[in-house]
Amino acid sequence: MHLEVSQLHKEFPTRKGSLLALEDINMHIEEGEFVCTVGASGSGKSTLLRLIAGLEFPTSGEIRVDGERVAGPGFDRGMVFQSYTLYPWMNVAENVGFGLKLQGMSAAVRRQRVAYYLDVVGLSQFAKSLPKALSGGMKQRVAIARALASQPKILLMDEPFGALDVQTKEQMQQFLLEVWRCTGTTIFMITHDVEEAVFLSQRIYVLSAHPGTVKQELKINLPDGFTDANSIRTSQIKRTPTFLAYKDQVMESLCTSSVPEKAMLLAG
Ligand SMILES: Nc1ncnc2c1ncn2[C@@H]1O[C@H](COP(=O)(O)OP(=O)(O)OP(=O)(O)O)[C@@H](O)[C@H]1O
Ligand SMILES: [Mg+2]
Repeated sequence: MHLEVSQLHKEFPTRKGSLLALEDINMHIEEGEFVCTVGASGSGKSTLLRLIAGLEFPTSGEIRVDGERVAGPGFDRGMVFQSYTLYPWMNVAENVGFGLKLQGMSAAVRRQRVAYYLDVVGLSQFAKSLPKALSGGMKQRVAIARALASQPKILLMDEPFGALDVQTKEQMQQFLLEVWRCTGTTIFMITHDVEEAVFLSQRIYVLSAHPGTVKQELKINLPDGFTDANSIRTSQIKRTPTFLAYKDQVMESLCTSSVPEKAMLLAG
């Protein structure tokens, strides 16, 4: 898997003219990587993810997955959003298997696949439950299982833990690292939480706002669980000097990047 974003621009027409949401974005994500993008509100994070997902189209520039230009949504890219997007009338197993059904997978293979990913997210015993019986963290685990079930080349996540309380969020971050290690899935996640980004990422892109541009690319050299199975990051790492130094670096980059209202509206 190789994701390449090249010279990406995105403008939105508005009544006051054209709004430049993303300007000259260049990024790449490699097989098995966990990459986060952080940026202030309005820096175009969701727009970027929606473009990669094929839910929006670039004004110019391009996005390629394994050399293929993204021309719309596809099962090679799995999405997890901040808001809970489970179908309330379907039980957990049906929610996880829904995309597989759309792909025409037989019921028997689908059952196996669903069972496997429910096990991965630790929710096998809730297969028959309706979403309303689940906590927020559990709903997001189902959403992650649903996205993983299609075995996408890359998992795209837009602030997936943004609506969770602090404690659940910490558990979910740890859980996501474990899922990443056991499945080897490539993950690209959007967040405005700097601590979350440093904790999860091997690499971070910092976006500046108005318009969204890549301000900095930063490699996070903390243990990541691939070189040594015992070295998976745990929340204790958040108090180490190396971790705090990374966090400061990203914070500084974010703070110096928020130029207020720089000519965001283009003539038009
Ligand atoms: N469909 C649209 N039409 C017009 N403007 C849009 C549209 N979608 C996004 N925008 C604008 O583009 C800019 C970037 O929005 P986007 O939602 O991508 O930001 P974000 O970084 O995800 O913000 P947040 O952290 O609040 O989720 C904003 O100024 C927003 O108002
Ligand atoms: Mg957003």
